[in-house]
Amino acid sequence: MSSNTQIGRARAGANIALIKYWGKRSGSSLNLPATSSLAVTLDDLQTTTEVSVCADFSTHEVRLNDEVVDDPRLVAFLDHIRGLVGSDAPFARVISGNNFPTAAGLASSASGYAALTLAATQAYGLDLDANALSVLARMGSGSAPRSLWSGFSIMHRGERDDGLDAIAKPLLDADSWPLEVVIAITAHGPKSVSSRVGMNHTMATSPYYSAWVEHNEARLDDAAAAVLAKDFEKLADLSEASALQMHASAMAAEPGVLYWNSATMACLHAIRDARAKGQGVFFTVDAGPQVKAICLPGASSQVADALRGVSGVLDVHCTQLGAGAERL
Ligand code: DP6
Repeated sequence: MSSNTQIGRARAGANIALIKYWGKRSGSSLNLPATSSLAVTLDDLQTTTEVSVCADFSTHEVRLNDEVVDDPRLVAFLDHIRGLVGSDAPFARVISGNNFPTAAGLASSASGYAALTLAATQAYGLDLDANALSVLARMGSGSAPRSLWSGFSIMHRGERDDGLDAIAKPLLDADSWPLEVVIAITAHGPKSVSSRVGMNHTMATSPYYSAWVEHNEARLDDAAAAVLAKDFEKLADLSEASALQMHASAMAAEPGVLYWNSATMACLHAIRDARAKGQGVFFTVDAGPQVKAICLPGASSQVADALRGVSGVLDVHCTQLGAGAERL
């Protein structure tokens, strides 16, 4: 490698939304979310990324989990960052790896674009503040800015057309309320419809979409207050409602977007049963068939045992809440 190579390295944890993002503000190319969202960053599901920039490179090149990927969205993202430096700035080589399944509904685009944002800006020598990093990460993926923060964060939809206020802010760090997360894997392999395609299709065809946007945004402040008050039951009610309403809006699209399998549904019932018996647990589901159980501190091993016993569950992972993305 040439001596004028500059390198940036970063890691980021996946995050899981409790109040969901599902749909974009229309009429903008800036990937502006239609609603604000609230999420937890996870400790154990990590993306690690190294970016090199060098005048010898003639194109951008990206390797994910040891394979070259040809993804126009990633190239456009790298070009955007390169453009911030100047039209004659060098191209980038990216080596990135997830320690968990990619594109299977486990928020790999969130941790991926958060790590890439930090690593690429470092490699290109861009000194950006937290808000500017959030704006950049959002251009990659609307859920990515949340992975910049530890524990609980809010991604604000913002009001401005230029998207400078569509950024994530920290709400409560992981140590202050160390909830635990159990992930039930109910299918291997990538999901059938990506989040982006699923949400765009929902926006375009679901008669429930506008109701979803209105209700979800109205719940955000209550959910944030529940986190700050550590009111688990309140957060559980609001989060389950947001997840189910997101999926209801998607299922009502034409044709309907159906991410669940029968094991997904069985897990939701198992978690509802456990909660009815007094266990501190509630569920959420993203764009895919995997189920995430959010647990009070100390409750995850019992919940994991229950989910292992659900027919169709292939694997179960437990994780703590984690730190925000960082440069290495
Ligand atoms: C269901 O952030 O992957 O996980 O902005 O188009 O990249 P793009 O979408 P993405 O969507 C995440 C959707 C979700 C809910 C959430 O994380 O809030």
